[in-house]
Amino acid sequence: MYHSPSSSILCHSPRVTVIGAGRVGSTLAQRIAEKNLADVVLLDIVEGIPQGLALDLMEARGLELHHRKIIGTNNYADTTGSEIVVITAGFPRKPGMSRDDLLRTNAKIVVEAAKKAIAHSPDAIFIVVTNPLDVMTYLAWQATGLPRARIMGMAGVLDSARFETFIAMELGVLPGDVKAMVMGSHGDLMVPLPRYATVNGIPITQLLDAATIERLIERTRNGGAEIVELMHTGGAFFAPASATCVMVESILLNQSRLLPVAAYLQGEYGLNDVFIGVPCRLGCGGIAEVLELSLTEEETQALHLSAESVRRNIDKAQEILTNVSK
Ligand code: NAI
Ligand code: 2OP
Repeated sequence: MYHSPSSSILCHSPRVTVIGAGRVGSTLAQRIAEKNLADVVLLDIVEGIPQGLALDLMEARGLELHHRKIIGTNNYADTTGSEIVVITAGFPRKPGMSRDDLLRTNAKIVVEAAKKAIAHSPDAIFIVVTNPLDVMTYLAWQATGLPRARIMGMAGVLDSARFETFIAMELGVLPGDVKAMVMGSHGDLMVPLPRYATVNGIPITQLLDAATIERLIERTRNGGAEIVELMHTGGAFFAPASATCVMVESILLNQSRLLPVAAYLQGEYGLNDVFIGVPCRLGCGGIAEVLELSLTEEETQALHLSAESVRRNIDKAQEILTNVSK
């Protein structure tokens, strides 16, 4: 019998760790495996859940026609050598929970997850999804000490997809033909940019009146809350998982896609020492470039307002973490 010589390069399958096997994390694991992008390690603090989800996803492999392995675990040792680590661990805001409560709970979870994950995958690129997004990304950056190219937050891709969806619904056109860019923080102060939104190159400002555009912007700003109000229990997860998967894909396949991601700024847009959504080129090393769009005075002011609120919450989170460690 002939055995071909094995090549470690050809046999290597990239590995993506997803921390938090909740709704976003488990859907992301499914998307990554079923797009045949990488093996997935799904990690959660609750015993049995990631193992059960991984087995369920493994049993779908023959039907979905892919060969990626999905491992469920509670042990960080199983994440060793991951190319990408995505942090979705933590809780969505529940009724009656203040933003400060969410900050307190998720800050501890994200810092611990980031430290444990980097210890096992020192070369990984990190994508943070847990809310409040821009603040959690900052804390994970501090906890890991990663260079800014290798750590980012997911929100802009989702917020832009929502803006594109509402434009497409309004105009009755194919969603894939609409391209939009939403910058800023993930929340009420996000900065959708109608000047940069087009339908196959035609600016939406030529297709919709100002009042309609403003209505679609408001719906985008309220996109997460609209879904929570409808579902009562938990928030969106299909589109958030798709948005994260787009970032994972651009990195793993070195696609160099130009996407809005929460990146650490060092002077770009006049902002410093803050993570906030800006257009970036994503490739195999992570963030290859932060693009500086030319913004109007009003857009710049909105971006700065957004960054100020992130900064205030970073200070609050750091105070919380200091008190916890005393
Ligand atoms: P979920 O409640 O379904 O899942 C969270 C998971 O994290 C649970 O399985 C829980 O057991 C796990 N977990 C908690 N502590 C952990 C720890 N110390 N280590 C490992 N796992 C731990 O929540 P869902 O819907 O999946 O959302 C996850 C996070 O993502 C939330 O903070 C949510 O607000 C955020 N999110 C962010 C979006 C964005 O655009 N950035 C969009 C959608 C959700
Ligand atoms: C969303 O935008 C709440 O971040 C979550 O759906």
